Amino acid sequence: MRSFLGRDILSLKDFSRDEFNRVFQVCDDLKPYARDRRNGDLLKDKTLLTAFYQPSTRTRLSTEAAMHRLGGHVLGFSDAKMTRAGDFYQESIKDTFHMLEYYGDVIAIRHFQQGAPAEAARWASVPVINCGDGWGEHPTQVLTDLYTIRTELGTLDGLTYLLVGDMRMRTMHSILYALSQFDAEALVVGPPDMSLLPEFKAELDAVNVRYREIESVADGIAQADVIYMEPVVQADYTKGRVERDAVLPTTPEAYRVTRELLAAKAKSSSIILHSLPRMDELPSDVDETRHQRYWVEAFNGVVLRMALLSLVLGAVE
Ligand code: CP
Repeated sequence: MRSFLGRDILSLKDFSRDEFNRVFQVCDDLKPYARDRRNGDLLKDKTLLTAFYQPSTRTRLSTEAAMHRLGGHVLGFSDAKMTRAGDFYQESIKDTFHMLEYYGDVIAIRHFQQGAPAEAARWASVPVINCGDGWGEHPTQVLTDLYTIRTELGTLDGLTYLLVGDMRMRTMHSILYALSQFDAEALVVGPPDMSLLPEFKAELDAVNVRYREIESVADGIAQADVIYMEPVVQADYTKGRVERDAVLPTTPEAYRVTRELLAAKAKSSSIILHSLPRMDELPSDVDETRHQRYWVEAFNGVVLRMALLSLVLGAVE
């Protein structure tokens, strides 16, 4: 297994099964800090820099919370318009990250352009963590999701994953890459204009990911152990910021998971994950059902990022 020390976390395409398991072991070790609301000193001599060119609630704040929990320091920006990258100068990724590497020991970046974190990593000698790049990937979210499944169901193998929503989404790319390392079948359902792209399917085929496209949630929910959701009423992820239209479309029934559908068709043991924010595809009365795990997932987001920061900064092997 490759060392995590100094490593950029850009994609789950190149993660081995052993590497997933190592990250999850470190999560188990560090979880007590978050569970007991304790702060430690594992990263007391380290500084995290967050460079967020797109809005975020969970990813930025859970990464910052993780650093605080381990006694580290945090600085950064959450609105590129207030930096030279977002004003008159439109400063390049190259020039920006050439400087940012002197301000922090690890950089967490979210950007509206696919590939921007990889470009940043070319120009920064400190580890760069991709916190979402356009439609590209969202590795820390999907590591959080997989850790949640592993803790809730005890395994990532032998499971059927029902993936629901916009298949252009970065989470869908990262989870399908990750499933190449596990004994898993994915049932994929989303609107035709948001389906898996041919080039992405070719990549999945090249690593033997088992997936099948189906037409509606109702066609696959009975087989699912994990119901993994994203909205289909969606912002354009290639934009820095998208204002909301006055009138929003509603989600067709084929891409919704409701309390009634769960009662009628779902396995009693199935769990629902949603990276959030949600729209009307997941009504809030599902929160009271035994299937809901998205709030555990939110807690695990801090745990996972504690583990990842500790690994890339060399605080744990
Ligand atoms: N899940 C997720 O990426 O949420 P944020 O956009 O709030 O970070």
